Amino acid sequence: MIHNETKLLYTGMHLDKEASNAEELPIYHSTAYALKNMDDYDHAMDGNKYFYSRCENPNRNALSSIISQLEGGEVTYVCASGMSAISTVLFGLLSSGKRIIAHKGVYGETLELLGELSKRFSVLVTYVDMKDLTAFEEACRRSVDYVYTEVLTNPLLEVIDIDAISRIAHASGAKVIVDSTFTTPVIISPIHHGADIVIHSLTKYFGGHSDITGGSITGAEEIMDTLKRSYLLMGGCIDPNTAWMTVRSVRTMNLRVRKQMENARIVAAWLEKNPQIRKVNHPSLKSHPQHELAVRLFKNGEGAMISVSVEDDCDKVNRFIEQLQMIQYLGTLGGLRTSFAHPYTAFHLEFSDEELQGMGITKGLLRLSVGTEEAEDIIHDLEQALEVFA
Ligand SMILES: Cc1ncc(COP(=O)(O)O)c(C=O)c1O
Repeated sequence: MIHNETKLLYTGMHLDKEASNAEELPIYHSTAYALKNMDDYDHAMDGNKYFYSRCENPNRNALSSIISQLEGGEVTYVCASGMSAISTVLFGLLSSGKRIIAHKGVYGETLELLGELSKRFSVLVTYVDMKDLTAFEEACRRSVDYVYTEVLTNPLLEVIDIDAISRIAHASGAKVIVDSTFTTPVIISPIHHGADIVIHSLTKYFGGHSDITGGSITGAEEIMDTLKRSYLLMGGCIDPNTAWMTVRSVRTMNLRVRKQMENARIVAAWLEKNPQIRKVNHPSLKSHPQHELAVRLFKNGEGAMISVSVEDDCDKVNRFIEQLQMIQYLGTLGGLRTSFAHPYTAFHLEFSDEELQGMGITKGLLRLSVGTEEAEDIIHDLEQALEVFA
C-alpha cells in the first residue's frame, strides 16, 4: 500500500485529456525529462529529445527559432541577459593573444568587459572610431581575429557602416560581431550585411514591456558550434517563463517598434525646432552626419532612440526631470512608455569629466527612448518641462 505522502509526489504528473493543440505553447518548467532506458539516453544526446533544461528547453527553442528567422541566422542561443550573451560570445571566442577591434562608442559594460579580458586574460583589444573607415582599415593591417560594433551607438546614435566594416574585416580574415539592440530586426538584419554574429539585449525592444531580462546570439551553424561550449558551461540560459514571455512579446515587436519609430521621427523633428535644445541626434534628421547612410542601411525607420543636448547645468537638468509629468527616468529603454536616461550620471563614476567630454557625454545630454503613446502627448510633456531651460 503506497502512502498518501508518496502518492502526492506522483499524482497529477500526466494530463487526463489531450492538450496538444493549445493555441500557445505551454511553459515547460521541468528541469529534466525522464528517459525510458539507456538507448533513450543516447537518443537524447543525439539531440532528438529534451533531457536537461540548461542544455535545451522547448520555450527557449521556440524563441531561438523566431530570432534565427528574424535575423536570417541558422542558430540562436538565448541567454539570461544581454550581458550574458555578450560575455558568452567574448569568453567563447577570445583567448590570450587573440586580437579584437572594438568600436570605441559601444555599450559601457561591453567596454568594461573588454577591459577585463585585456587585463586578466591578455586579450589584445584595440578601440577605433568605426565611423572613420580609414582608421579602421589601418587598425586591420595588424593581424585581427574579431571585430565588435553596434549599428546605432549609445548614446550619440551614430550609425556604423556595417557593410563596409564587414568587407574590410573579412578581407583581413576577421569575424564580425554586431550588437543590434538599438536597431532590432525591424530595421536591419546585420547578417545580411556581412555580420557573422548578431547579439541582442532582449530586455529592450524584443521584450518591449520593461518586464523581462534576456539576450540572444545568432549566427551560422559553424561559428555557433564554436560558442556552444561557452554557452553551456557558462550556464547563462534564459529561464522557460521569461522565454515564454519574450515569445509573446516578440510577436508584436514589428507593430510596437514601427509606432515607436514613427513617433521618434515626429519628436526628433519637433525637438530640432525647440529653442531650448542645442542639438538633436536622430538618424531621420537631415542634420545627422550619417543620415544618408541610415537611409541606405535601414528599412521601416531609423530607430526609436533620440539623444538631445540641453544646457550643461545639472541643477536645471534635475528640475527638468522633476518637471516631467508622464515621461519617466529609467535605467532601461525600448519599452511601451517613453523614458529617458542621463548618460553623464550613469558614467561619471567610471570616467573622468575629461574622458566623458571626449566621448561626447556632457552634463546636458539626455537620451530618450520613444514609446508608443500619441506623439502629441510626448511632445506636450517635453515642452512644458523644457521651460526650465528658458
Ligand atoms: C546596446 C546594449 N547592449 C547590451 C546591453 C546589455 O543588456 P542587458 O541589460 O539585458 O544585460 C545593453 C543594455 O542597456 C545595451 O544598451
